Amino acid sequence: MSQGAIKFNPDIHKKIDINSDISGFTKLTTMLKKDTGINIVLSDKNKTLVSSRLNKILIKYNLNSYSEYADFIKKSGPKYYNEFINCLTTNTTHFFREEKHFTFLDQYVKSAEFLDHLNKAGGTRIWCSASSYGHEVYTILMTLLNSSTFSPGNLDIKMLATDIDDRVLAVAAEGEYEEAQVKGVPKYLLTNYFDKKKDGDKVSYRAKDLMANRVTFAKFNLLSPEYPFKNKFDLVFCRNVLIYFDQNDINYAVSKMTDNLRIGGLLFVGHSESGNIHDQRLQKVTFGVYKRIN
Ligand SMILES: C[S@@+](CC[C@H](N)C(=O)[O-])C[C@H]1O[C@@H](n2cnc3c(N)ncnc32)[C@H](O)[C@@H]1O
Repeated sequence: MSQGAIKFNPDIHKKIDINSDISGFTKLTTMLKKDTGINIVLSDKNKTLVSSRLNKILIKYNLNSYSEYADFIKKSGPKYYNEFINCLTTNTTHFFREEKHFTFLDQYVKSAEFLDHLNKAGGTRIWCSASSYGHEVYTILMTLLNSSTFSPGNLDIKMLATDIDDRVLAVAAEGEYEEAQVKGVPKYLLTNYFDKKKDGDKVSYRAKDLMANRVTFAKFNLLSPEYPFKNKFDLVFCRNVLIYFDQNDINYAVSKMTDNLRIGGLLFVGHSESGNIHDQRLQKVTFGVYKRIN
């Protein structure tokens, strides 16, 4: 779209108020919910958060209202639609988030049940289905690679990391984090699995090939009609994204993920999401962890 075609709007510095264009705002949130599952309930808190995100884009394209933006997205093609989705995803994450899952994972991969499976299968396939900036991806990999199960004999670990937001996927694939972000990572893991980089005063940590080479990053929407994976996964992580979906969409995504989990494999969901998992094929193992039993 040519910027030259846009007429300058002298009022654009004014605050765009959701309450003056509820119908336009609803068009946008309906589109978002239908395509991604992200269900924005119109509380005052959400209105403020969402409008501050949307207003930046409205200003960028010199648009006067949410209704105009909804029409603009429909007319302008996938790049602009993508920008809309990316602007409304919440990507909060950190290393070792909900740490109990990683303590559990460490014990699980040493269990007779898992070792027996590994003996037969030869490798481990993992899917991190809302991977955001990658902190979860590398936390899972550090936990596994640090376990006696995988070192040094069996390092056949492959992970697929997906997210609907391609901005965060690019950061995750880069695998580089500022010092403040790696605070939650124990020092010995940081030393073993990240390379320290210094650029003047700036220190950052980059995932070593030992981790990075095991991950494939791809854009994927959990509400997609098709889940195009050839092989079933041993472990599926879907944490802190279902919380944004309504129960129908949770049921859909959980059912599809379970289809793609081997019998005996585990599904991890966020601690606050565990009350909403109702698939009959899943049996609760511990908080936020489910095993596929049939
Ligand atoms: C709050 S972050 C959670 C990140 C990580 N799983 C964790 O627990 O720290 C939620 C992520 O879900 C992604 N997301 C939202 N809707 C999605 C969808 N329909 N399909 C795939 N990813 C989605 C967002 O882009 C965001 O990166």
